[in-house]
Amino acid sequence: EQIEKGGYDHFMLKEIYEQPQVIRDTFRGRLLSDQGLIKMAGIEDNLAKFINAKRIIIVACGTSWHAAQVAEYMIEEFARIPVEVEYASEFRYRNPIIHTDDVVLAISQSGETADTLAAIKLAKEKGAFVFGVCNVVGSSISRETHAGAYTHAGPEIGVASTKAFTTQITVLALIALRLAKAKGTMSQPDYLRNLIELELIPEKVQEALLENDRILEIAHIYKDAANCLFLGRGFNFPVALEGALKLKEISYIHAEGYPAAEMKHGPIALIDENMPVIVIAPQQNHYDKVVSNIQEIKARSGKIIALVSKGDQQVRNLADHIIEMPHSTEALTSIIATIPLQLLSYHVAVLRGTNVDQPRNLAKSVTVE
Ligand code: G6P
Repeated sequence: EQIEKGGYDHFMLKEIYEQPQVIRDTFRGRLLSDQGLIKMAGIEDNLAKFINAKRIIIVACGTSWHAAQVAEYMIEEFARIPVEVEYASEFRYRNPIIHTDDVVLAISQSGETADTLAAIKLAKEKGAFVFGVCNVVGSSISRETHAGAYTHAGPEIGVASTKAFTTQITVLALIALRLAKAKGTMSQPDYLRNLIELELIPEKVQEALLENDRILEIAHIYKDAANCLFLGRGFNFPVALEGALKLKEISYIHAEGYPAAEMKHGPIALIDENMPVIVIAPQQNHYDKVVSNIQEIKARSGKIIALVSKGDQQVRNLADHIIEMPHSTEALTSIIATIPLQLLSYHVAVLRGTNVDQPRNLAKSVTVE
């Protein structure tokens, strides 16, 4: 097992550090930025189904459901196709409305999640076209769907998903951009910029990993927190959800993810000097609004850990701790911002002495209801 961990203390840490490589593996041969092209066989062969879809329904569970939420924002923004995201477990039992011109996209790392598999079968019965995004090659979901695209994350052993999530977003970004190109919904410069930025993601993820020592220091300070709040807006709202999930899964600290603006409708009541609040605050569309959310936390003595764009000054002056990230497009920052949150959860869990790779009560793949 020590050999399999490749010199890392845990599979989770190894898998976090594998991300630059596996993200590159995921777009290799598919992203041809010099030609301005994206080529994915599963999409090309079924392009008409996607283009004519009245809507795309995404079904998933757990971390894959968070990737689905990022995909919703990407597909709607880039390709202007309405998207609904559903928990597979809810979808399968609520007699959902499914039309024959709906495309159902199922996302699953393992390809074995019982609820997701059942949702796929239901969608097929109702005549929808079902496309899978799986990691495990030959898995039940990859066989049950009409077509699909694999993430090429390689085996993920740590129960808490890391590289599966960022490679899912990578595949979903490729799909969203390919559909945007086909539908003519994105300007050519915007489209090309996203292709080029996507190609740069592995090195930017590598750069994000360099904040590890600073993140370890922060983990030391907050390891005994009872609660923790994660905030983000736009594409980074699902990243906040994923950050909170990661922390609770492996450290057993109660954590909640929220869209930053919703804080005032509830979580703000919990903020005091004992509440660490992790805010994803890159210098993009929502920046000014996130800055005012940070001021609201500060006014209530909450402890602010902010993920900021490299060189940021404004948030630096307000936050208790900052973690820097390289700049990218707003959509693709969701991949970069995930990295420090994974590292933070990892270090907090290690410091608390939990079983990081096999947290209590959780399973890697949930093949029963
Ligand atoms: C379990 C795992 C999670 C995973 C979820 C969905 O809860 O512990 O890491 O996100 O199942 O799994 P899937 O394989 O369908 O992505």
